[in-house]
Amino acid sequence: MMAPLFAFLPYTILAVYFLLFLYHFTKKKKFLWNLPLLGMLLEFLLNIDQIHEKITQILEANMGTFLLKGAWLGQMDTLITCDPAIVNCVMKEKFSGYHKGDEWRKRFEFFGNHSLFNTDFDEWKIHRNTFRSFISHQQSQQAVAKTIRRILENGLIPVLEQSSKQCQVLDLQDLFKRYTFDFASSMVTGHNPNSLCIGLPKNPVPEALDDAWEAIILRFLLPESLWKFQRWLGFGKERKMSGGREVVDRFCAEQISMNRKKLSEGKTRISFEDEEGFNFVNCYLTGNEDNSPKVSDEVMRDNMVNFIFATADTSSTALTWFFWMLEKNPIVEKKIREEIERNLPQKGDGKNIRLFQLEELSKLIYLHAALCEALRLFPPAPIQIRTPLQSETLPGGHCVDDKTNVLIFLYGMARMPSVWGDDCLEYKPERWITENGGIKHEPPHKFFSFNAGPRICLGRDIAFNLMKAIAATFIHNYNFQVLENHPVTPTLSVIFRMKFGLLVKVRNKSA
Ligand code: HEM
Ligand SMILES: *[C@@H]1O[C@H](CO)[C@@H](O)[C@H](O)[C@H]1NC(C)=O
Repeated sequence: MMAPLFAFLPYTILAVYFLLFLYHFTKKKKFLWNLPLLGMLLEFLLNIDQIHEKITQILEANMGTFLLKGAWLGQMDTLITCDPAIVNCVMKEKFSGYHKGDEWRKRFEFFGNHSLFNTDFDEWKIHRNTFRSFISHQQSQQAVAKTIRRILENGLIPVLEQSSKQCQVLDLQDLFKRYTFDFASSMVTGHNPNSLCIGLPKNPVPEALDDAWEAIILRFLLPESLWKFQRWLGFGKERKMSGGREVVDRFCAEQISMNRKKLSEGKTRISFEDEEGFNFVNCYLTGNEDNSPKVSDEVMRDNMVNFIFATADTSSTALTWFFWMLEKNPIVEKKIREEIERNLPQKGDGKNIRLFQLEELSKLIYLHAALCEALRLFPPAPIQIRTPLQSETLPGGHCVDDKTNVLIFLYGMARMPSVWGDDCLEYKPERWITENGGIKHEPPHKFFSFNAGPRICLGRDIAFNLMKAIAATFIHNYNFQVLENHPVTPTLSVIFRMKFGLLVKVRNKSA
């Protein structure tokens, strides 16, 4: 009986501090309030609605780096930075001196202790090799092209046609989540779940992932004792995350057993090397040079989930913000349309819905630039965290040790005039185009949306194909308009989702 009472003690303390805080309230400060016992937690929580802007403001006032004091209740100090020199040092030059570590794994437990995403050093290398051999396999490119086309043709177009005819309101974020989830699942399991179809049925796996991302960010903000207690009592985001875990585990178990069954039936020799059997689960089940077929179901589960979110959550988030930027910058949308018409002239009367080949899409430089610019301003993974193994002095003179997290705040980096120039806040695809009309290369520690150094994203090319294919199809064939007064704000999450989605009306252009 006593335990729940103690559980609420921290909240009572929070409430007392809250009153104190109101008394002392001052806005435009350079630093956060460092309170005894609570550290800077309170002011963080009070600013939760504009947390991204608030941190950006403080970073700018502190030349790109400041130390966030953790609470005594077991929350670590965190050095927050958006300085590309520090990023280069932590992610690349001194890569082996930093890890994700147990503190990370405790918080990201949902995504499996034996996954690519959650491991360090030797174990990480094994997983990375498996992913790489799959992504760069000779079958991969063809599988990507075929899968994308199938989903656009049988999923996207029917949904957009119906929505256009019936003037329905569509949530673009939800639409993109379905598109990328169907793609990722097809690549991982060989089976298309068809979540992008007329009627838009409930889609529990991606929802479970979204809940997990939101719960995880709280595990970084709140003291450990607090979120553990919440987990124990089973309320709030922690409860949602445990429910989600069951959904995801069931999905993976079903898919593994389905692939096992196909293999044991052996009607066709379904090997991972064949077009028919080319999927990520089969790559584990049948083995390849880097990867013995003997991994446990747990390892498979962890990495299936990894593959799905690495592919789906990131690309769908990028697409949503990209379309929001098009709404705000109609001139960019017009330029993309013109680029398609100029570079990929159409045969026939132009009345039919048109899909594109991936080879064609590589001619769309301006579209590529417009996507890069959306990824810069709205990085789908807006933070990145590493912990040093020992004491280190970072570029700029800040000292960190194994009790301090280094948190790279990508959202703020895009908004530093010192990094991107005085027009950093503007959405300007032109900044990505060179004098010769190619795409400008920015070093990954500056354009950090795909990470940098040895853990750089393995799926960048696939991501661009996935995004360009749907963007070109959509923009060429349809008009869309975001509902008036629709509020666009980010969620507090590890993934930069829109809190209320992106509600639009869609119309077929030749209807
Ligand atoms: C716009 C889309 C994407 C963005 C912004 C993005 C971003 C990132 C970031 C920030 C990381 C580092 C994660 C970390 O270390 O904590 C990462 C890693 C990774 N990404 Fe992507 N990604 C995208 C799409 C994809 C796609 C489509 C795939 C697969 C086909 C993919 C596969 C991977 C893999 C396997 C890793 C793990 C690398 C490692 O830890 O060694 N990504 N990505
Ligand atoms: C995963 O690792 C963390 C940190 O080492 C640990 O606290 C947790 O219990 C582990 N989870 C599982 C299921 O083994």
